[in-house]
Amino acid sequence: VTERISTIFSDQLGIDYPIVCGAMFPCSNPELVAAVSEAGGIGVVQPLSMEFIYERKLRDGLRFIRSLTDKPYGVNLTVEKSSTRYAERMERYLNIALEEGCRFFVTSLGKPDWVVKKAKEVDAIVYHKCTLAKHAAKACAGGVDGLIGVTERGGGHAGVLSMEKLYEELTPFKVPLICAGGIGAPHEFVAALNMGYQGILMSTRFIATYECGAAQDYKEAIVRASEDDIVHTERVTGVPIAVIRTPYVDKVGTKIGPIARFLFNHPRTKGWIRAYYNAIAGWRLKRSSLKGLSTRDFYQAGKSVSGISSIVSAKSVVDSFVAEAKRAVS
Ligand SMILES: Cc1cc2nc3c(=O)[nH]c(=O)nc-3n(C[C@H](O)[C@H](O)[C@H](O)COP(=O)(O)O)c2cc1C
Repeated sequence: VTERISTIFSDQLGIDYPIVCGAMFPCSNPELVAAVSEAGGIGVVQPLSMEFIYERKLRDGLRFIRSLTDKPYGVNLTVEKSSTRYAERMERYLNIALEEGCRFFVTSLGKPDWVVKKAKEVDAIVYHKCTLAKHAAKACAGGVDGLIGVTERGGGHAGVLSMEKLYEELTPFKVPLICAGGIGAPHEFVAALNMGYQGILMSTRFIATYECGAAQDYKEAIVRASEDDIVHTERVTGVPIAVIRTPYVDKVGTKIGPIARFLFNHPRTKGWIRAYYNAIAGWRLKRSSLKGLSTRDFYQAGKSVSGISSIVSAKSVVDSFVAEAKRAVS
């Protein structure tokens, strides 16, 4: 496949195909990011994953990606209001990424205005992930170039709306829209483009690739799982995330206990309980993603598992999606 698929998004970024490999803690390893970019889509780096899971300082990791591909890549910044230390870390990541030549940022949670301000000094592009109009409004007020709508079928923190409803919800903002969540098969890419989305973002689909650093067990669990095996649990980070149902998930249930819930709801304690859960989650997800499932772990995945039937290369994922899109227009 050689001919580009030109959309507002692929033109803004100067990439061949409007296909993004979403940032994943803990599954985004530099080889996967580079492979998706090299294939003509764009891989997005998750800096915390780079530093804590794959143990490369962000700058070294970005240089490593650059040694694997000349094509553009992106960096994910989760800009939620948390501790000052966390905010400083995100700012440092932004500066390093800009210095290393990154010109595409995917922000999630919180307000991305400070990212946009800095990114615009060098004409970098910023897209913000959101699930509802109220989040999109904040991001657009901050000047983002586009929105990544996460549907109810997504991995990680899923949204609440279908692909169609989300399109209606976000269209009034008059910025290009990318569809994320639940896309695992080529015909779903075509459906998103036909609906008016300017591209797609997939995460779960790219876990089941040769280049992803996740354990073989995890990849096979994604291939085996059907949509009904995906449940939302609060027991990893305190807020619901999509995971594959396992005997352990059944045993512990999907809700946090009453004390934790009280702490999450209380203004004085919600900051530290969130930090505590995130620290534990980071460690647990690292173990399960690299070493395979122990009896007390979780595998994150979206309902996109229903469209995933084999472990292949990142390039063949991109190629098969592009081929389907070309077939659909011919
Ligand atoms: C294992 C995993 C880890 C994720 N980690 C992050 C993350 O660190 N930051 C982020 O913005 N989104 C994260 N997400 C959400 C995805 O970027 C994306 O919104 C969603 O997974 C898309 O749905 P899909 O997995 O069905 O393609 C993660 C998703 C998965 C499956």
